[in-house]
Amino acid sequence: MTHQAIAVMVSGRGTNLAAILEAASKGNCPVDVRVVISNKVDAPALRIARDAGVETVLFINPKDYKDRDAYDKACADVIEKAQCQWIVLAGYMRILSSFFVNHFLNRIINIHPALLPAFTGADGVGDALAYGVKVAGCTVHLVNEEVDGGAILAQAVVPVLDDDNRDSLHQRIQAEEYKLYPQTLSRMVQCGFSMHARRIVWGKA
Ligand code: GRF
Repeated sequence: MTHQAIAVMVSGRGTNLAAILEAASKGNCPVDVRVVISNKVDAPALRIARDAGVETVLFINPKDYKDRDAYDKACADVIEKAQCQWIVLAGYMRILSSFFVNHFLNRIINIHPALLPAFTGADGVGDALAYGVKVAGCTVHLVNEEVDGGAILAQAVVPVLDDDNRDSLHQRIQAEEYKLYPQTLSRMVQCGFSMHARRIVWGKA
């Protein structure tokens, strides 16, 4: 099976990174996690990456760069040197510069804990709960310059229960994320996709 190299960008716990690493090591997801970059020195995701033996695991400190473009250029250099095909955002809490988005156009993906286009932004789960929706979920999408605004690759639905709070709902959404993210990556590598305006159609054009 063809494998493709990916870079994962993280800021936090790294449970999605762990799910991707596990799926890859079990042969369920044909990717090679070659680079993990964090903008937070204390992100638990860094330890997960090191423990899994990822080749390049880096904390890149935003304070060492004069602006967002310079920071993103440093990240892009690492990713290019390692020849990664895809850039996978997994809890990466930094807005990407237009330089970075355009440099890797249609090669950056993100997972968001809501059914886009509803509830974009930092608290998708809390906002969905407060709105009173009866189904929530997660979305894997391409990254463009609009926050959580890129074309949708895959979604999974989770019911909202009467006694849910933010944490319980987020936990059930994350359980779906751990399946959906590796599955979507597999599909991207194995089938490819084409884009028709905002619509993703699976299969090589
Ligand atoms: C996930 O819920 C994801 O949807 C959002 O950030 C969270 C990351 O969690 N973008 P983790 O760091 O993978 O545990």
